[in-house]
Amino acid sequence: MMNIPPELLAILRKVERVASLTGAGVSQESGLRTFRDSQDGLWSKYDPTELATPEAFARDPKLVWDWYAWRREAIKGARPNAGHYALVQMESKILDFTLITQNVDGLHRFAGSENIYELHGNINRVRCSICRTFAEVWEEDTEVVPQCKQCGGLLRPDVVWFGEALPQGELEAAARASKASQVFLSIGTSGVVQPAASLARAAQANGAILIEINAEATPLTPQVDYFFQGKSGEVLPELVQAIWGK
Ligand code: OAD
Repeated sequence: MMNIPPELLAILRKVERVASLTGAGVSQESGLRTFRDSQDGLWSKYDPTELATPEAFARDPKLVWDWYAWRREAIKGARPNAGHYALVQMESKILDFTLITQNVDGLHRFAGSENIYELHGNINRVRCSICRTFAEVWEEDTEVVPQCKQCGGLLRPDVVWFGEALPQGELEAAARASKASQVFLSIGTSGVVQPAASLARAAQANGAILIEINAEATPLTPQVDYFFQGKSGEVLPELVQAIWGK
């Protein structure tokens, strides 16, 4: 059982504006590897940070396309876990709840969360690498990378690669929600990738109580107001139960 300080519980029972930032740790209990976990099988010899880049796509588009096709296949078998559903419950109980995610797996929306900002895009969306037109359908397992029907450009996942800009609108809205929040939850993220990692401190600098839920301590941990070490699929449901009961 989590030991939640009574003063925190009292705050969480009446808070009106909450923002949360989630990372790959929230999807780990859905069977999806976190970003910096060692990858298994065919891809163990590649560094993901080498593949998720425009340079890698320019150099070997088929390798990058196949890596994302493999990840989409892995996600197809994944289902939201208790942590995703606890965040859906929070959104239903709290007046103004914003979910900001670095995850590209789409599991928050699948679980029923609605007010979501996907800072790093969504792997289940595919667009043209030239004209950015979204593809409705595409071949996953092909000899060559599928091409855009509009301009013939190579298709790519609609995710943010290293060195690419985040979707400006999403980032601005996420920053606004973070700064306006009274409580900010950093969940299942190592908190090392900017600009997402800066949202927690921006919230705290504007008076929010900063809570971290993570399997292990992170560079953010020394600055947070409350740190609950554990699996988000266990900690989040316990937190919801402690705040609102059954
Ligand atoms: P990381 O793999 O960097 O961090 C995942 C965090 O989740 C780690 O601190 C783990 O300890 C923790 N963790 C693992 N399992 C957990 C569980 N069951 N419950 C709670 N915590 C758990 O993944 P992210 O922080 O999401 O960006 O990485 C951020 C970004 O770095 C990704 O979005 C990706 C990557 O570069 C892009 O692709 C642009």
